[in-house]
Amino acid sequence: MPLVPPAIAGLTPYEPGRSIESVQREYGLTHVAKLASNENPMGASPRALEAMAGAMHQLNLYPDGGRKLREVLARAYDLKVENVIAGSGSESIMSNIIRTFLCDEDEVLTTEGAFIGFQVLAKSRGVRYRTVPYRNWHYDLTALAAAITERTKIIYLANPNNPTGTIFTRQEFDAFYKRVPERVLIILDEAYFEYAKDNPRYPDSMHYRYDNVITLRTFSKIYGLAGVRIGYGFAHEELIANLLKVKLPFEPSTLAQAAGIAALADKEFVHRSLELNARGLRLLMAAFQEMGLQVVPSEANFVMVEFPDGIQAARVVEDLLTQGVIVRPLKAFGLPQCIRISTGTDEDNERCLAAMQKAVLAARV
Ligand SMILES: Cc1ncc(COP(=O)(O)O)c(C=O)c1O
Repeated sequence: MPLVPPAIAGLTPYEPGRSIESVQREYGLTHVAKLASNENPMGASPRALEAMAGAMHQLNLYPDGGRKLREVLARAYDLKVENVIAGSGSESIMSNIIRTFLCDEDEVLTTEGAFIGFQVLAKSRGVRYRTVPYRNWHYDLTALAAAITERTKIIYLANPNNPTGTIFTRQEFDAFYKRVPERVLIILDEAYFEYAKDNPRYPDSMHYRYDNVITLRTFSKIYGLAGVRIGYGFAHEELIANLLKVKLPFEPSTLAQAAGIAALADKEFVHRSLELNARGLRLLMAAFQEMGLQVVPSEANFVMVEFPDGIQAARVVEDLLTQGVIVRPLKAFGLPQCIRISTGTDEDNERCLAAMQKAVLAARV
């Protein structure tokens, strides 16, 4: 028996976006715009920062496993606390779902080029990982439903989707759901929920509350708390009870929980973040189109651009780096011809456009 199971030995590790410091050092730059990880360019919710400072005196004590945040969320959504879970980011909950529900013979089903975090977690479990192609850069829910087999245990759907920024509609989800057997668990990853929720076509999974659907949300995006690691999930109490058996008992941390509770109440920060993002999306979309680039219309806080091939995409990414703009190459997602650009501050968006103009011209030569 090998020491390292084949599923782990063959795995390409998740590579987070380049850090500002490393790019500054490598290219000798003073200002670097990080538009690579769909973070909030306004920083963290000020209320969350205050709450974390206020929780410092409790750091000698073990946390309560997210109980307080679960209670707050249960009240906010009119649920029982038994329907809510909190974790160190939504990825931690995703990891627990994989550990809790998958057996060796099960298979996981999702779209091609799905969120890389999910791909790595699912593949590390060593089960069969199956995908269906995008349809015009949207989840093809009809094809996904048709691809379900006896062995399908988990279907992963991100809505809005990372990296395409697209959504599937209520109508599409309703038609899809009717075709999914009850024994199949659907993960509805709504990390970018806040950016899409006002679109009347968007299916907020909390309106459905199906017994085989787990909704995942996060404080990493609109609340600006990616660095503290705090996320949450909603599901039937039996699913949550089993997830709680597997979850590390003391996550999320005391500071993360305090930040999450305070951030939820910071409506003003969310409002300002949405405005900045909408402005950024409009600007980036219009300017990229004017440059003749293939841009996918987005409902999130980033846009995906498709190049004729992977070589051009890689050249553009590298050229942007030398100009102090970090964007996300999507080769690891399985889409080498595409890159993803998060919205930034107004200044960083302008900087990105100027750099992109140069990079595109250079890449075409
Ligand atoms: C679709 C999707 N799900 C989950 C996450 C991870 O969220 P968290 O920081 O809560 O683990 C991300 C982050 O990029 C994401 O894009």
